[in-house]
Amino acid sequence: MTDSGIYPDLQGKRAFVTGGAQGIGRAIVAALVRSGVKTAIADIDPTAAKRAAVEVGAAFAIEADVRDRASIEGAFHHAVGRLGGCDICIANAGVSTMNHALELTDDEWDYNFAVNARGVFLTNQIAARLFVTQGKGCIVNTASLAAKVGAPLLGHYSASKFAVLGWTQALARELAPKGIRVNAVCPGFVRTGMQAREIEWESRLRGVSAERVVADYVAQTPLGRLEEPEDVADVVVFLCSEKARFMTGQGVNVTGGVYTT
Ligand SMILES: NC(=O)c1ccc[n+]([C@@H]2O[C@H](COP(=O)([O-])OP(=O)(O)OC[C@H]3O[C@@H](n4cnc5c(N)ncnc54)[C@H](O)[C@@H]3O)[C@@H](O)[C@H]2O)c1
Repeated sequence: MTDSGIYPDLQGKRAFVTGGAQGIGRAIVAALVRSGVKTAIADIDPTAAKRAAVEVGAAFAIEADVRDRASIEGAFHHAVGRLGGCDICIANAGVSTMNHALELTDDEWDYNFAVNARGVFLTNQIAARLFVTQGKGCIVNTASLAAKVGAPLLGHYSASKFAVLGWTQALARELAPKGIRVNAVCPGFVRTGMQAREIEWESRLRGVSAERVVADYVAQTPLGRLEEPEDVADVVVFLCSEKARFMTGQGVNVTGGVYTT
């Protein structure tokens, strides 16, 4: 099935998506492919990435660690070579751990910042260097609800996601005169592997059942259900399209109404 009728300008474009093997990234890849975009998946898990590429019809998958400049730079240039160029960069790879602020370890802090903040910086910078030479290109970063409001037990994760939004805003202002748009999406409580891990951790840290944790997520969500990866992906594809031509530097909430400003 193709969505190319909705965004005809996306037909034939080329995209590079980090963290596309699972969860939100996989849904973004699938939605881009349905819109006629030739898409490369870059992920630290090559087995899952290759499986996802076959299942959703991506062009190919490459192993890459967004924390490492040489790794992500090599993957990006490999993708540009095989796709014949690149028009869209989606910096989506991210990780979380959960802990009480006073128990947080240096390693937890550094790990969340390395993947979530440094990973987005490296991926964006490497893609933007190409986009500047083209005089066009589009970047979408996956931030979080936790980039807008500090989340308990996720202080380090929240701080790393606030960093993503600060970087997104600054980069958008620098690159706007060069014809490049840079935006972010801020998802809420999305049903993915990351969420499954967080439910288990939160249940233990709060001393409540997993069912209670999920019920609390839903109770905070005016639209009354857990978010699905596809809810995020559809907004990302919109942001990549010409329909969003006058949007840059935005952190677009896709939370079912959890957060509204
Ligand atoms: N699930 C949620 O509720 C939620 C909410 C808000 C924001 N987010 C953000 O959405 C993004 C995707 O999260 P998800 O829920 O789909 O998680 P997920 O764990 O299901 O998928 C994350 C993907 O990123 C890959 N990855 C992890 N570290 C990497 C690295 N160093 N280099 C390359 N790839 C790496 C993983 O292999 C995996 O394929 C993340 O940035 C996350 O912070 C998630």
